[in-house]
Amino acid sequence: MSNDRRDFLKKSALLGLVGLGKNLLGEEKLSHLETVSNKIAGTDNAFTLPKLPYAYNALEPFIDAKTMEIHYTKHHQAYVNKLNETPSTNIDYLSSDDVKCSHIDKTTSAVMRNNLGGHFNHSLFWTLLKPNPESKANLPEGKIAKAIEAEFKSFDDLKKEFSEKALKIFGSGWCWLIKTNEGKLKIITTPNQDNPLMNLENEKGKPVLALDVWEHAYYLKYQNKRVDYITGWWNIVNWNKVEELYSQ
Ligand SMILES: [Fe+2]
Repeated sequence: MSNDRRDFLKKSALLGLVGLGKNLLGEEKLSHLETVSNKIAGTDNAFTLPKLPYAYNALEPFIDAKTMEIHYTKHHQAYVNKLNETPSTNIDYLSSDDVKCSHIDKTTSAVMRNNLGGHFNHSLFWTLLKPNPESKANLPEGKIAKAIEAEFKSFDDLKKEFSEKALKIFGSGWCWLIKTNEGKLKIITTPNQDNPLMNLENEKGKPVLALDVWEHAYYLKYQNKRVDYITGWWNIVNWNKVEELYSQ
């Protein structure tokens, strides 16, 4: 069969898939199927940079505008671009990003593991931050506050343990508060762009709080003083989002 004929059949099959999506699944599903079919056909991007929920300077004085702009438009965008350049037969493009992450294991290629992790982790990280320009007290409330007290005795104890673990990460990585399968809260760390959803050696669980401790997240403002970045970050944790993730 000629290459032209093969391409024609492939595109026809994909158009049929999109048509089926419209009839059976409705408009929303259609648009997702179109994205997937475009991805497979190499004409569009399956992964996109999510909209940042605030301006680059909104997190000052704790995270500066330049760091946010570079972190979002260069680093996060690079993970998205690399994912779109790397078609994988092992990834279910129709599944949500957290389900995709749960399919990552030691046999997954490094390029997929690193870039899918990078994309998922940053997408979550942006939602877990909120502006606090007047440096008001920023404390958890509701169910998550009670769960923290039950597991760590007090919020200050959680802060202490989390900050110490984040500070001790050697090189690049992430510190997480996870909800385990037993419903308990636990603090873990992962190297590079790994996360607690992946089938790797770290403890698994649902991430409810995340801190990026790669140097690109803080070096412009804090240089080598990671401890100051962590101390500042507690002021801009979006506890409403943490509560939402914990309660789901
Ligand atoms: Fe980052």
